Amino acid sequence: MADIKFYSRPAVPLEMHKVKIVQKLTLLPSEERLKRMENAGFNTFLLHNGDIFMDMLTDSGVNAMSDNMQSAMLRADDAYAGSETFYRMNDKLTELFGIKHLLPAHQGRACEHIIAQHFVKPGNCVIMNYHFTTSKAHVTRLGGHVEELVKDEGLVTKSTLPFKGNIDLDKVRACIAKEGADNIAYMRLEAGTNLIGGQPISYENMKAATDIAREHGILTVLDASLLQDNLYFIKLREESMKDKSIREITRMIADLFDIIYFSARKFGFGRGGGILVREEAMFHELEDYITMFEGFLTYGGMSVKEMEAMIVGFEETMDMDIISQGPIFIDHCVRALDSLGVPMVTPGGGLGAHINAREFVSHIPSEEYPAGSLVAALYLCGGIRGMERGTLSEERNPDGSEHIASVEMVRLAFPRRVFTLSQTEYVIDRVKWLYDHRHLIGGLRFVHEPKTLRFFTGKLEPVSDWPRKLIDAYIADFGEEC
Ligand code: F0G
Repeated sequence: MADIKFYSRPAVPLEMHKVKIVQKLTLLPSEERLKRMENAGFNTFLLHNGDIFMDMLTDSGVNAMSDNMQSAMLRADDAYAGSETFYRMNDKLTELFGIKHLLPAHQGRACEHIIAQHFVKPGNCVIMNYHFTTSKAHVTRLGGHVEELVKDEGLVTKSTLPFKGNIDLDKVRACIAKEGADNIAYMRLEAGTNLIGGQPISYENMKAATDIAREHGILTVLDASLLQDNLYFIKLREESMKDKSIREITRMIADLFDIIYFSARKFGFGRGGGILVREEAMFHELEDYITMFEGFLTYGGMSVKEMEAMIVGFEETMDMDIISQGPIFIDHCVRALDSLGVPMVTPGGGLGAHINAREFVSHIPSEEYPAGSLVAALYLCGGIRGMERGTLSEERNPDGSEHIASVEMVRLAFPRRVFTLSQTEYVIDRVKWLYDHRHLIGGLRFVHEPKTLRFFTGKLEPVSDWPRKLIDAYIADFGEEC
């Protein structure tokens, strides 16, 4: 977003795009929302899109495409093998990242599946700054374990630190000494660290961490799914990088890694994924997994139309006007709620605004899923769908006890260019109302609990009749139609 000054009004985030196609939204009456939430087992993943007024579940595959992305779809070259679209995609990624070999895959977790399947043996360790749900599940499924070595300060929810996704270099050295380099399958750094609030890693930290890995012969892997936000923050917050272009920063980061993978549902604003492999021999070792699990090597399960769109999306990621939209709206939302006394994860990161649920509903015990309860309450009180990112998103310990998440958050994702500033103001208003009525929110318990990734499809029920009381208070303030 351009730095445009205002004359007579307080400055607000100013969009550097205009809207050309819209989708009508419906706000169901409160009573109806209660019924839909009950049907969804108090799990926002199980709501239907038509139940929802503002869908802030994720930015995955739901960012608004540009006119150039849409028009590029028309020239998609459909072929089972040898699609020209694939070669254009490969060329664009090679131009941006300086890595020649691309393995296409249908989405980010497919890339994680293949990387883990090939490199993780039972008992192996994978070093991460922080885990992502699917990236950890693939490692543990194969008998490996994840060491999350983010700096302690990254888990402090209220902070002013610019790079809370940074990995702790002393912990990295200690972990290598303890595990032995041979037992470490790879080091995975996640740009725009998702589960701690979309917080970035600095270039300096990525360089230092990958230098240590290289010293010990450990493979370095970048999860670039949220790279676009991270690039924006490096340019803005890292003093030594402020005169570099986004293109230069992208290349400097890429040069640090042996493998770069991404969910193109985020990076590139399309729907797909890919793995870039530096070494030709390693690329050939991984090829078979694509043909076995994804599709032929020139589409990997993706639609060629989406591939054409994302080629444009990759290039648009180099434009500060484009990549700043999300972080600037998020910052606006986080600052407003913070100033109203709502416990937020600060500073605002990429991806979304994150509410510190542990503090918001401090009366709900971790075993009754504070963030899960809060996210359900927010749907009831406003039709806003967020995502639980806390204990409910964890898997139980082997003895069946809850694995209490180190951070308990509700994420309000900002799909890029989808919501306007007035809609953002509505969200701020409803979150503040809920905060002032937080004593009415109660806990949840499972009635159907899947073993793996339970947050996606599990069903829950309230531990008391708190949803009824909450809706009654809401109707008293806003009326039945809101
Ligand atoms: N890595 C990161 C950092 C992610 O945020 C995601 C997805 C993935 C990998 C997996 O990619 O969905 O294409 O299979 N994050 C989504 C989210 C689901 O809502 O944050 P995928």
